[in-house]
Amino acid sequence: MRKKFLGANWKMNLAYQKSKDLYTELSSLSPPSSELVIFPSTLFLSEFASLNGLPLGAQDVHFETYGAFTGSVSPLQLKSISCEYVLIGHSERRQYFNENNVLVNLKLKCAIQSGLKVIFCCGEPYENRKSSTHLSFVLAQIKAAFNEINETDLKNCIIAYEPIWAIGTGLNASQVEIEEMHGFIRESFSNSYGTDAADGLRIIYGGSCNQDNASAIFSYKDVDGGLVGAASLDFESFQKIITAL
Ligand code: PGA
Repeated sequence: MRKKFLGANWKMNLAYQKSKDLYTELSSLSPPSSELVIFPSTLFLSEFASLNGLPLGAQDVHFETYGAFTGSVSPLQLKSISCEYVLIGHSERRQYFNENNVLVNLKLKCAIQSGLKVIFCCGEPYENRKSSTHLSFVLAQIKAAFNEINETDLKNCIIAYEPIWAIGTGLNASQVEIEEMHGFIRESFSNSYGTDAADGLRIIYGGSCNQDNASAIFSYKDVDGGLVGAASLDFESFQKIITAL
């Protein structure tokens, strides 16, 4: 039985006090039976970690453990402040920071070797959905990212399927689209790592998930939870999504 996972990706939103208040408020809820992880700005991770609230994740990480990389944050630095998770391959990193599949693979390997758990994000642009090349597009992302990742490493990964056209648009993917892709992703991992590994792998959905559609989305076949952006910035709305899990 796969444990459900819910991530709150706050992106570059909320200043210090608002972030802290929201983190504190969410942490004071009775502990969920599923896994709930908050991804605030990297700037606040260290202090929030000292509050002993909900588990924390970073939104990005460098591909080396240490070194002369001005402005970057290393996976070992994240690990040293008890940050547990990191998002890798998010479409906004790919789009605005030119992160390609090769870089995503380097980050993934270094993060896992450093003891972090990874949420690997994949998903197709609208053109690929329109031309029915969405499956091959996502498969290429997965194959590149998981190059030299073994079955033990895979246990520390969660896959987030986030169609780019659904992120921040208010237009979530349909049941048919989500189930097709999640089933396809699980089958791809089964082909590379075997059925046991694929059965244990959590595949979550992201892209305009909100309090109105969360409960339906979380009930779809092969959906093990969600990664929520905009709707996780408000306590009441995110609380409803937690309840829907
Ligand atoms: P959204 O973002 O929920 O605002 O669409 C999801 C994400 O980017 O992870």
